[in-house]
Amino acid sequence: MRLRLAGALAAVLVTAGLAAGPAAQAAPDPVRQPTLADLAERHGRYFGSATDNPELTDTAYTRLLGSEVDMITPGNGMKWYATEPQQGVFDWTDGDEIVDLARRHHQKVRAHTLVWHSQLPDWLTSRQWTASELRAVLKKHITTEVRHYRGKVYAWDVVNEAFDEDGSYRETIWYKTLGPGYIADALRWAHQADPHARLYLNDYNIEATGPKSDAYHRLAKDLKARGVPLDGVGFQAHLALQYGYPATLEDNLRRFSRLGLDTALTEVDVRMQLPATEEKLAEQATWYRDLTAACLAVRRCAGVTIWDYTDKYSWIPAFFPGEGAALPWDEELRPKPAYQALREALR
Ligand code: G3I
Repeated sequence: MRLRLAGALAAVLVTAGLAAGPAAQAAPDPVRQPTLADLAERHGRYFGSATDNPELTDTAYTRLLGSEVDMITPGNGMKWYATEPQQGVFDWTDGDEIVDLARRHHQKVRAHTLVWHSQLPDWLTSRQWTASELRAVLKKHITTEVRHYRGKVYAWDVVNEAFDEDGSYRETIWYKTLGPGYIADALRWAHQADPHARLYLNDYNIEATGPKSDAYHRLAKDLKARGVPLDGVGFQAHLALQYGYPATLEDNLRRFSRLGLDTALTEVDVRMQLPATEEKLAEQATWYRDLTAACLAVRRCAGVTIWDYTDKYSWIPAFFPGEGAALPWDEELRPKPAYQALREALR
């Protein structure tokens, strides 16, 4: 109690600008405000951010990344094109750099991603494979990568974006060559390679209930019933103001929890048509607050990850011309209203 009073007094003095004098100046900040990670931890959740290797030379950027969040996802560094650029030749440079950075900051890693149709190396996409050849290629990739990171990552997005909007299987190289069984196989191989990693399926446009999210619900239920090692479903949550807030998010998370699964918001951003106005930024803030509150309201929602934390390194402007301003910090790394809204939701 005495300590708390001393802290409170220091806070008052600092705020009032009265804590001058050499001793006060030399002391470390006595009233460091809790970070998003600190606040999330009080709920038994994490608060994470994606990052990418080219940004890691920006020291102002890495300082905030290293202090504000407790979970890191490599935005590209663990994808197939980066990790197995030639068949059977593995390159861990980018993934390791991010895992090492996270370790130095006592952060965990949500690893992303093993099986996807995008960002595959040419050697894999430029020829035809028989089912047995491709199965062997997939097994080797998963086994080698998951073993390499065994004990170093908290979770894996094992299969990414397996369904189309109407809830049918996406016609990827994996589905077309191996049939839907590739998903259970991938989960089993990943589990064998690291029995402690939490294994996820992950997708976008499944935040609200609808055909695509129903497809995941059916698949997850079936996989659980068959004893396939699935631990969670990741809701990417790449949202856009012009399409409206996914009002059924909380109920949707809850129905997956009822299957005995974790859920997580894995790639959150809330883009808008530029220019960003005060009104749009205020609306964006309420979306960040609401989606965080939805996760907190569902016991098995493990945490929230934003898809990088600053507009400076967002993927949005390159993919959606004329849109942007999607993250809680602006391009100068200044917190936006969305940042305050996250703090409110987590408090
Ligand atoms: O590596 C090349 C580099 O050599 C070249 O100079 C540069 C020039 O454009 O491109 C680099 O590749 C880029 C790559 O990111 C690595 O920076 C690609 O052009 C670019 O398209 C690619 O974008 C990534 C995107 O996935 C690809 O689909 C984004 O950074 C990444 O944030 C994004 O992440 C995905 C998740 O994995 C899955 N969910 C959706 C999410 C957003 O698309």
